[in-house]
Amino acid sequence: MTLFRTISGLALLLLFAALAYDLKRQWKNWNAVREFLVSQMRLPLLVWQKRQALLAENILLFARRIVFLLTVLVFLLLAITGFVPLLVLGDHLTGILLVIHVTVAPLFALSLSALALLWAHRLRFLRSDGEAVRGLINNRYQEKENIIRFAWKTCFWLVSVLSLPLMLTVILGLYPLFGTEGEEVLIRLHGYSALFLMLVAIVHLYLTIAYVKQSPEQFVKE
Ligand code: HEM
Repeated sequence: MTLFRTISGLALLLLFAALAYDLKRQWKNWNAVREFLVSQMRLPLLVWQKRQALLAENILLFARRIVFLLTVLVFLLLAITGFVPLLVLGDHLTGILLVIHVTVAPLFALSLSALALLWAHRLRFLRSDGEAVRGLINNRYQEKENIIRFAWKTCFWLVSVLSLPLMLTVILGLYPLFGTEGEEVLIRLHGYSALFLMLVAIVHLYLTIAYVKQSPEQFVKE
């Protein structure tokens, strides 16, 4: 528990420090960073207020946005209920937080599946992504957009793949296949899958709001 607590705490600290550094580099001062972040928090409300116009314009686009926002919301609830007791109290998930965690979990499984279905084609890897990776490996100059697009897509697919061990570790624990020690290993694996998934999901969300949303036409070519 102490090891997992230390690793999670350090990983989250390092990630947030790196993101804060990048935000400051882009927006030059902390006031501008704060304004940008506050404007992004209003985004879900804006999508909801404009729902009629968005629906009339393109139903698939609307579904993509709503499912993305729902998945982010449900994921945040799971991450908070899962990691707060661990990081703050140094204890396993119990009581009301466990009830909230397992109640919200099926919604997460459903919304993540819908997200994968709605976004998979759009975020498929293209020849240009392969060229960006080859360029990076061969130390050739690469457009910033190409590298960010590749990282953004990679994060999306990693989230989809990492969600499998995350859910399997809980589902397998429901069957009388493992003893007490096996159950403990499964919980630990659930925790580590959740940690990796959370790190990748935060980077994906960050790339979406800090880069992709600014100029979507540069990032998504259909
Ligand atoms: C389908 C989705 C999920 C299900 C069914 C689920 C279920 C559970 C259950 C039943 C526990 C309690 C295990 C125990 O102590 O007996 C747990 C713990 C935990 N969950 Fe989840 N969870 C899901 C998704 C997530 C997500 C998305 C995160 C975070 C990103 C997360 C983070 C955690 C953490 C950190 C713990 C505590 C692990 C520990 O005590 O070592 N879970 N989860």
